[in-house]
Amino acid sequence: MKVLTRRGLAAAVAAGAAAAAAPALAQAPFPSRPVSMVIPFAAGGPTDTVGRLIAQVMSADLGQPVVVENVGGAGGTLGAQRVAGARPDGHTILLHHIGMATIPTLYRRLAYDPINGFETIGLVTEVPMTLVARRNIEATNLSELVALIRRRGEALNYANAGIGAASHLCGLLFMQAVNTRMTTVSYRGTGPAMNDLVAGTVDLMCDQTTNTTEHIRAGTIRAFAVTTSERVPSLADIPTATEGGLPGFEVSVWHGLYAPRGTPAPVIARLNQALLKALQDSGIAQRFADLGTAPVAPARATPQIHREFWQADIAKWRPLIQAAGQFAD
Ligand code: MLT
Repeated sequence: MKVLTRRGLAAAVAAGAAAAAAPALAQAPFPSRPVSMVIPFAAGGPTDTVGRLIAQVMSADLGQPVVVENVGGAGGTLGAQRVAGARPDGHTILLHHIGMATIPTLYRRLAYDPINGFETIGLVTEVPMTLVARRNIEATNLSELVALIRRRGEALNYANAGIGAASHLCGLLFMQAVNTRMTTVSYRGTGPAMNDLVAGTVDLMCDQTTNTTEHIRAGTIRAFAVTTSERVPSLADIPTATEGGLPGFEVSVWHGLYAPRGTPAPVIARLNQALLKALQDSGIAQRFADLGTAPVAPARATPQIHREFWQADIAKWRPLIQAAGQFAD
């Protein structure tokens, strides 16, 4: 009869424990099926443009399709809610922007936790904004436009993608700078809004260069300023707002990738690896440059840096939004 020694007993216990863990460790490798990238604005807009570009390279790296799913509405909160409530297995991710920093203050009653509902995967890009108008607007430069707005006020229509959108935030800052309110027309994204601006059925918008550059170059809309401290190389003839007489009117739109809270760290790491491939892809770098932006440097594209940057931006915008006193609810 075999006598079970202390060493033998320990080995048996260890083997049992390993066997018990085996099913968990033998989980399907990630990704085991297509990944859904939720874009919280309508197709054809700036967020959609960034998402579709990085999705292509991420798909190749992950070996599974990264399928863009546009879930617009409510200033980008419906799409964010969709991801916050998804299974935390890495197969549903969110591409969002500066709205993730303003929504926690703007929306005081949400069906999801706008801060603790997400894991950060990494920052993607930072996009300048442009103040643009229908091409036949009665102004040829920013000071004439400001005079027109102060004269006509709410007779002018300003397009945005809902409270929480970058176009809403830029509009808030712009109307504060000119100390005049216009009538806001909200869309499910600035893609559809651009159609109306080109058609001339809406007067003004502040939108990202990823959506306005080609229209400005084609002359289908008129640009009055960029909202960055320096001119944008791909739109070098457009003055900054400061040059145009509105000092301090600066805002640019950072974008980041998120997963539902509780997504395992190895899955986040694998998604971050695929994101880094996209950020270092020469084709994406060129397309981003054509549209006035650039991928963030790989050293800045870690989940931790993304979370720290995001938390700091929430804290930055909270007092400004509270002082404006305009909330979504
Ligand atoms: C969009 O993609 O439609 C824009 O990001 C909306 C916005 O934030 O203004």
